[in-house]
Amino acid sequence: MVSYKEIQASNALINDATAPRVAVFVGGTSGIGKLTIRALVATGATVRIYLVGRKSAEERTHAFIQELHAINPKAEVIWTEGEVALLAETKRVCEVIKSKESRVDLLFLTAGYAPFGTRRETTEGLEVAQSLSYYSRMLFILHLLPLLGAAEAPRVVSVLGGGMERASSINLGDLDLKKPGNFGGITAQTQNIALNTTTLEKLANDNPNVTFIHSWPGWVNTGNVRRGSPGLIMAWFIRLILDPLVRLLSLSDEESGQRHLFQCTSAAFGGRGVQWKGKPGINSLEKPADGLFLINFRCNCTPNAKVMPLLREKALGKVWDHTQEVLRPYL
Ligand SMILES: NC(=O)c1ccc[n+]([C@@H]2O[C@H](COP(=O)([O-])OP(=O)(O)OC[C@H]3O[C@@H](n4cnc5c(N)ncnc54)[C@H](OP(=O)(O)O)[C@@H]3O)[C@@H](O)[C@H]2O)c1
Repeated sequence: MVSYKEIQASNALINDATAPRVAVFVGGTSGIGKLTIRALVATGATVRIYLVGRKSAEERTHAFIQELHAINPKAEVIWTEGEVALLAETKRVCEVIKSKESRVDLLFLTAGYAPFGTRRETTEGLEVAQSLSYYSRMLFILHLLPLLGAAEAPRVVSVLGGGMERASSINLGDLDLKKPGNFGGITAQTQNIALNTTTLEKLANDNPNVTFIHSWPGWVNTGNVRRGSPGLIMAWFIRLILDPLVRLLSLSDEESGQRHLFQCTSAAFGGRGVQWKGKPGINSLEKPADGLFLINFRCNCTPNAKVMPLLREKALGKVWDHTQEVLRPYL
């Protein structure tokens, strides 16, 4: 475990030389994304942040941006409206960023929710939570890779469930869980976790100049488990058991923000970033080298050595072909 003291000591070293100069936060309007933005801005470093969110979040996000500017006048936070559950919108937002920037140092992806409830589809025919936590995230990465490639220590962080992959639970015959009876809250979340890790590892292998992180945040009391549209029994389960449990066991907001800021900046993961004198992080190939890091809420690397070879051997080909097919019209 990386202690909270070590996290705070590392984050205290973030300055104009080590902070990401240009960062894109997708999902920073609430929850872990918002907490991480606050922690980054509070370092006092010069940063430009594209804060991507949907129209309904605009008003409260403007108030948040004012708060950030008061904390650190050197932080420029640019509200970038987009309904990122839609891939066409994701593409449009990426075009806006590409027209303004030549580099991106950090891409931080948190949009999504635990899909406890019935299957809901976007107008593009994808399940909403899957589009947010997988397809839209991968599309952001693919669009912004050239800009990430122009940065000195580029990093992509996807917050969902790194290290929680289960070989038995990925449905290779129905990756989008569209067939009757295949969709369920836990099934969908574990499917999206495995899809994230499988594709992120491929992208890490193909882009060795970029550090990739799939983070499992543990429990953070953001209201995320209440966001789906559960049936009556599930709604009561969430209200009476899950929600109180999350409140009881959660990391504090402050600690979650600091721990994710550490994941965004520390050289512990891949060697580039804020100096780290502890043990180097182990990537998903179980090597102390750059690549994809599966990181838990204690900031431990959890390479999931039993499951990863199975995902590589059995899932990667199908997942990548299918993902390309879905994303192709929006590239
Ligand atoms: N919190 C936890 O304990 C926990 C545990 C394990 C995994 N996770 C996963 O980690 C990720 C981040 O979690 P979090 O707690 O930070 O999430 P969160 O605060 O509930 O939401 C994160 C972002 O997702 C956006 N979002 C939610 N539903 C949306 C929709 N239908 N269309 C467009 N945007 C939508 C929110 O936008 P608005 O601000 O506009 O609502 C917000 O910006 C999620 O994928 C979550 O499932 C969380």
